[in-house]
Amino acid sequence: MPNDTGFVPQNQRADVLEAALGGLTATPKTLPAKLFYDDEGCRLFYEITRLPEYYLTRTETALLTSIASSVVPDGFRDAVLVEFGGSDETKARILLDRPDSPFTTYVSIDVAASSLTAMQVRLGDVHPGLTVVPIAADFMQPLRLPPLGSPRMGFFPGSTIGNLDPAAAARFLASARDCLGPDSWFLLGADLRKSPRILLPAYNDAAGVTAAFNLNLLRRLNREAGADFDLNAFRHEAVWNDRESRIEMHLIATRDQTVHLGGRRIAFREAESIHTENSYKHTPDRLIEIARRAGWGMQQVWKDPAGLFGAFLFRGG
Ligand code: TRP
Repeated sequence: MPNDTGFVPQNQRADVLEAALGGLTATPKTLPAKLFYDDEGCRLFYEITRLPEYYLTRTETALLTSIASSVVPDGFRDAVLVEFGGSDETKARILLDRPDSPFTTYVSIDVAASSLTAMQVRLGDVHPGLTVVPIAADFMQPLRLPPLGSPRMGFFPGSTIGNLDPAAAARFLASARDCLGPDSWFLLGADLRKSPRILLPAYNDAAGVTAAFNLNLLRRLNREAGADFDLNAFRHEAVWNDRESRIEMHLIATRDQTVHLGGRRIAFREAESIHTENSYKHTPDRLIEIARRAGWGMQQVWKDPAGLFGAFLFRGG
């Protein structure tokens, strides 16, 4: 994680530069979404989750709260909850805080090592009896868990599955199944396909926070990789791609220009896009099919009363 002093370690600089150059020299231009989450990006994302238009976080939280006791399989005791990308324990606590929670171990896999440590301290305060196992790793890479006991339930909330294209989503779910072991369970929270009249404002809010979040990518490249993007010469755009069933986020050049980055000159034409993120919105059937191909059998699906968001419970065969 970068810090506020303006000092960025050399190797991190090189990583950011390399990740950015690959995408910006491709056609069409892209930037990897993992670059969103520097300190400022994390702060802006937290603001997004509280926007009136961004219904996802509050809908999922209410849904998980209402089903928290029903998701626990019969006979579940001394169980292990394994969250993928869980440096923020808020969603997991909906399950862990229940007086009848069967979970005695919480494993959290996230690249952000410093947020994992903070999470462990916070959880230790509220749940002194809970064994907390932070694992600093990229959950997209195949991973071997330390010996943990069983039964185990994987947990992947926040509709992060939608930020993976369907092939990558299936690969992730298959490697999660390998890492959790054969007789495990998996609880997935995913936003559902719906009218673009609801979807588009969630990714292009009136207050401009999502725009600031998207543009922060360029600010980060200026700060950490010595680029010279003119932030006034790009604008945020969210589009609904119906065929792919996804929201796309783009940064659009508002004029012809040349940007310098890592000794390279990168030319932009007016209206040219940098594609920065996808958020797939699958139907429940499609998600169940993707999971089935990854070895997970569907147990139960819940939706919120308005049918915006789904919680899917799977079992590994
Ligand atoms: N998974 C969430 C979503 O797709 C969070 C997210 C990822 C996001 N990238 C984003 C939210 C960009 C807003 C903008 O909605």
